Amino acid sequence: MSATHQLRCTNCDARIAADFASSDFRCPDCSGLYEVIYPWSPGVGILGTPQDPAANIRLPNPNALRYKWQELRTSSMAIDQSGVWRFRDLLPILNNLDNVITLNEGNTPLYEMPRCAKIAGIDWLLAKHQGMNPTGSFKDTGMTAAMSVAVERGYKWAACASTGNTSAAMAAYAARAGLRSIVFIPEGKIAWGKLSQSMDYGALTVQLKTDFDGCLRLLLELVRRFPIYLLNSVNPYRLEGQKTPAMEIVEQMEGQVPEHLIVPGGNLANSSALGKGFMEMKHIGLISRVPKISVIQAEGANPLYRWFNDSNRDMQPVTAETRATAIRIGNPASWKKASRVIEETGGWCEQASEQEIALAKAEIGAEGVGCEPASAVTLAGLKKLVAQGRVTPEERVVLLLTGHTLKDSQYTIDYHRGELLTGAEVAGATEFERSRHVLLRKPPLVLEADEAIVLRALEQRMAMSDASEMQHAAGIPV
Ligand code: F0G
Repeated sequence: MSATHQLRCTNCDARIAADFASSDFRCPDCSGLYEVIYPWSPGVGILGTPQDPAANIRLPNPNALRYKWQELRTSSMAIDQSGVWRFRDLLPILNNLDNVITLNEGNTPLYEMPRCAKIAGIDWLLAKHQGMNPTGSFKDTGMTAAMSVAVERGYKWAACASTGNTSAAMAAYAARAGLRSIVFIPEGKIAWGKLSQSMDYGALTVQLKTDFDGCLRLLLELVRRFPIYLLNSVNPYRLEGQKTPAMEIVEQMEGQVPEHLIVPGGNLANSSALGKGFMEMKHIGLISRVPKISVIQAEGANPLYRWFNDSNRDMQPVTAETRATAIRIGNPASWKKASRVIEETGGWCEQASEQEIALAKAEIGAEGVGCEPASAVTLAGLKKLVAQGRVTPEERVVLLLTGHTLKDSQYTIDYHRGELLTGAEVAGATEFERSRHVLLRKPPLVLEADEAIVLRALEQRMAMSDASEMQHAAGIPV
């Protein structure tokens, strides 16, 4: 395979030629996970030895890159229109770009979120909406990269275990590539929209009576026995695609770097991918500093949060339970990578309760942006980081919204009908939070199709919402 990259074990630093990775992408010596490295990567010598000053490594030229990336925006070629492959100089993982499988992923919006900023108590807040990708989640940026590698290596089958979004993305990209795909998902524990996607894109969909962690265990047995390409995020090529929102954010902020990036944490690969993206950009001189990267988990699926707060720093898997099913993961494969990114960037790890997630999701929805529940942990976590003084009001924060609001419409409908949260969950909310729920919940009215009845009901509703908005505007800290 190509001389342009190698795989480096993030645990023991062993380096291997890309062709030599085992089917489960684990280091044979220490079981560590790999990352893709290039001759110019931070801390890498040109011959794959630790940084050798005599090796005369030529870093990519930052000005040339900036210019080229701008130029490619006007190209009509599919790989240039992709918000991943436009940055291909920083992910030279293919020998032949004809192997690229793209659905025009990336190029996602960076929204201003003035109302959520005010609620969180900061001046300026942005949301990078990765749910605006072709299959509705950030997984597409990783899938285009890893599926292209699968094609280049001649695989006929691909597979993943998933809480729903990876499987949707994998099934779509496999279909585009003409590969067959197998999906393992936990039965009854993923949102219907996601399940429907993997069927629609033609995957062999297997619902297993276990959780995500159980699905992944079984899948690993499968890929060890058959020539099936594993597309979970232990596959380091996924992360090469998932690092590109870092480049997009900097471009969208006209060369500026946010002070803080807040990412939801499940299997914990995405936070490390974004960290890699920012660190590589700094290393080659595209930016002068990296943002702090903080990870937020759901309270019921919080092994990294526990590890972070454990003085012994002992990682203990948990039995995961949360309505944010995308991040219902108790034994995250990439926790070491994520913890390094948090520590190296000066970020933090927080958790959010079911009630806090539901409220944050409604607040992001009320801003006209919307996201799936797992993405909303970012706003819930931001509120805590501000309250703790870890984020100050003048810091520019970017929330990484990972999934589209339509991914889990049942959650949204249940919330607005008042059927989502239990009495105990509501009782655990502060008075302010309870009043926010009352303001934000918009249950549908079911009425006779009679003019007088409709008008009366609307008058009542409109008067109620005017009154409550005035009352609550007074309560939001300015
Ligand atoms: N947000 C959403 C919407 C997700 O689907 C996931 C993960 C995450 C956040 C967490 O990202 O695992 O890199 O920490 N979903 C995976 C899946 C596990 O199978 O779709 P992570």
